[in-house]
Formats: sequence, C-alpha cells, structure tokens
Amino acid sequence: MSSANLHVAILAAGQGKRMHSRIPKVLHPVGGIPMLARVVQTAEQLTPKQVHVVYGHGGQSIKKMLNLSVNWIQQDEQLGTGHAVEQVLPYLKDASQLLVLFGDTPLVPSALLKKLIMATPVDSLGIVTANFTNPFGLGRILRDEEGNVASIIEEKDASDEQRKITEIFTGIMLLPVAKLHFWLTRLTPHNAQKEYYLTDVLKMAVTEKVPVVTVTADEPEVVCGVNDRHQLMQRERYLQQKMAYDLTQQGVTIMDTTRLDIRGDVEIATDVTLDVNVILEGQVKIDEFSVIGANCVIRDSQIGKRVHVLPNTVIEEAIIGDDCTVGPFARIRPGAELANEVHIGNFVEIKKSKVGVGSKINHLSYVGDAIIGAKVNVGAGTITCNYDGVNKHQTIIEDGAFIGSDTQLVAPVTVGAGATIGAGSTITRNAPPETLTVSRAKQQTINGWQRPQKKIED
Ligand code: UD1
Ligand code: CA
Repeated sequence: MSSANLHVAILAAGQGKRMHSRIPKVLHPVGGIPMLARVVQTAEQLTPKQVHVVYGHGGQSIKKMLNLSVNWIQQDEQLGTGHAVEQVLPYLKDASQLLVLFGDTPLVPSALLKKLIMATPVDSLGIVTANFTNPFGLGRILRDEEGNVASIIEEKDASDEQRKITEIFTGIMLLPVAKLHFWLTRLTPHNAQKEYYLTDVLKMAVTEKVPVVTVTADEPEVVCGVNDRHQLMQRERYLQQKMAYDLTQQGVTIMDTTRLDIRGDVEIATDVTLDVNVILEGQVKIDEFSVIGANCVIRDSQIGKRVHVLPNTVIEEAIIGDDCTVGPFARIRPGAELANEVHIGNFVEIKKSKVGVGSKINHLSYVGDAIIGAKVNVGAGTITCNYDGVNKHQTIIEDGAFIGSDTQLVAPVTVGAGATIGAGSTITRNAPPETLTVSRAKQQTINGWQRPQKKIED
C-alpha cells in the first residue's frame, strides 16, 4: 500500500457529554497536547495523501485552537460514526483506502497503524482489536466457530453472553473506499443508540466475502479512548509513565518516575538528573549533567550543561547557559538569558534581562529589562525600578560592576564598568565607571540624645 492512496479520517464531532465540559472533548490535553493534535501528529507520520478531521461540537474553537493543516469537514448533526465517515466520502477516490481514527483516542502509536496498513490489501477491510479485562462500554468482536470475525456489537446492543467477550473494537478501521460508498448508504439507525454505526459495515464485508484483516494491539493501554475525566487522567498517567520510562532508557536519572510530569516536547540529554515533582512544559531542552531539583517547573526553556537548578524554582521562556546555578526559590521569567557560570540565588526574579558570564545575583532581588555584563555582583535586595507606571525602561550594568545591597536602580540608568554602588543607594543618574557612587543620606550621631520615657501615673 503506497501512502499516496491513503486517506485518514479523524472523527472528532462527538459532544463528549460525559466530560461535563464547555470545552470540546478533543481539545482536552494529554501530556500537554490536545488529544486531537496528538492524533493528527500520529496520522501525519503515515504520510497520507490527506488528513480529514470531522468536527461538529465547538467546531470554530477547535479550528482556532489547533492550527492544523488538515481538511476540516463539518458534521452538522452527530448521527453516529457511520454518518461521520459519510461526510468524508466526497473527498475520496475509489482506488484509495480510508483509515478511520477517533479524536478521543490519543495514544495510538503510528507503528500499530503501519502494521494494520501493511497487513490490509487495498480491497480488504482491516480493524485493530484489543483484549480488555474490563471491556465495559466498548464494541465487542463477534467471531464465528472457525474464529473468523463476523461482526461488532455495541455494549448497549449486546446480550449478557456477548458482554462477556473481552475482545473489543478499538475504533481503528482501514476501509476500501470503492466498497465504502455502498456500505454506508445501507446503514440504518436501528439500534439502542439510534445511530448510524460505522461498525455495521464489518458484517456487510463478511457477507460480501471481502477479506477482513484483524491486527491485535499488544498493549491495550494505547488504544483506550477518553470518554470522561477519569479516563483522561488514566491516559495522562499512562503517558507520563511511558515518557519517564523512555527517558530512563536514554540515560536520564529520574528519582521517581511517578513524580515527573512532561506536558509537551522535551529533549533531555544523558546524565541529566530530575528530582521529584519536576514539571516540564512546552518545549524544554536540558543539556548533559544538569540537575533539576525537587519541585521545579520549567516551561519553554533551554538549560545548558552542568546547570544546577535548586528546589522550588520556576523557569519560563528563558535560556540558561552552561555551569549556572539557579535557586532555590528563584523565578526566571520570559526573556531571561543567563550566560555561562551565572549564579542566581534565592528569592531572585529575573525578567527580560541578559546576565553576563560569571555574574552573581544571589539574594532577594528583582532584575527586569536589564543588561548585565560579565562578572557583575548584584547585592542582596537590589531592585531595578523598570516601570514608571506607563512605560518600561532599561537598566544597564557593565562588566565588573559591584552593586551594594538594597540598591534601587531607577531606569533608564547605566552603571559603568567596574563601578561600585554603595549599599542602600537610590541611583537615578548614570554611575560612571571605576568610581564609587553612593546616594544615601550621610550618617549622623547625636550625642546626649535621650529616648522618650513613658509617663508614670501616680
Ligand atoms: C466506538 C465504537 C465501538 C468502539 C469504541 C472504541 C461505533 C458505533 N462504536 O464507540 O465499537 O469499541 O468506539 O472507543 O463506532 N463521532 C463523530 N460523529 C458522530 C459520532 C461520533 O465524529 O456522529 C466521533 C466522536 O467524536 C469520537 C468517535 O467518533 O471521537 C467515537 O464516537 P463515540 O460516540 O465515542 O463512540 P463509542 O461509543 O466510544
Ligand atoms: Ca468513545
């Protein structure tokens, strides 16, 4: 089967009533990525001619939220999976094969789909089945005496005897388009849910002696769908376990794989250590020998080599160079760029600032909209006053400067190279290089001064 004749239809029009949500079901994320986006990614790995998404509920919000290059097809009324597939027919040529996937089944591996495609000739029908210990709610596979697939029966239409069957239909079906037109026109909604079931085409195929190929998913977990928020959580936990396991196999030390969450795409080099309760979101890259301490949240950031991120640190949209130390309790905000060997200590917030090689901001500081050179020491409690209530202004601190503790740098302002700022200064004008600038009031001592006394009442 050449992928030139392969089309993929992702059914995503169902309301998802059991989610009790105002957000369409397929937009709920698993591992930080909306379910539908995951299914589209998987479909694209098959390099099909086209990916079609059948949408209905919350259609506009789905299209807006997911900027996907797929053929969006609206299904005005949700009359069942068979009716949903019918909406795709006008876009298909007879010679093609149609792979049907569900937008609410987010973790199907592309390898399983490739296996189905390889096993199913163009004129045959292929399905993926699985064996579930608890098949409740799913379509059961009925087989004849010889063990050949005969039909699929939905839970709601099944007899008690049929409900005991543990082989279920996963929803994944590969269909010969030439036959599909005819099969779909013959579907009827004469069933418990009054829907046009796609699954009914199987029986038609069997009657017409169209060969039916079944591929069994070795791991039932990957073909489980999401119908309610408990199942959403179960898929989340399964995916997290899998991603954490994969990282351990690639040389990452994870102190507890049940206490790591990855919500997006990560690239973690060998010999990185992740302590407990680390959350990585969006695009995160961590280079070798770095250690991420307990309770850190890192989003859309790059962490260099041999970096120590100490516990309880939050890093967002930032770049951290090699050999840096950050935290504990640091907040590195969007636009922060730390060069190599920078030290950021506790209760320090850095926003939209560049910090040069070897500079240190170790305690209780706010640095925003600043450019800090190399080998600068920023003392405890230093604040860049970057905001005048309307506009943001820049602070520049040149190489080798020393900022005494409790300094306010009222931007726009520049501290020259090698300059020293006396502790407790409020700097409103540029401080020249290689000099001492102090702006605090001179210290006085008043001799003979007496503390006021409390009056003693008699
Ligand atoms: C379906 C299968 C069942 C299978 C199970 C696996 C049918 C009749 N049943 O049941 O055999 O075991 O999946 O998860 O196919 N959808 C539309 N338009 C519609 C109806 C549904 O786009 O009119 C979409 C839904 O958004 C969902 C998918 O099709 O993504 C499956 O629909 P759902 O109602 O969840 O089917 P199940 O009852 O789970
Ligand atoms: Ca479902």
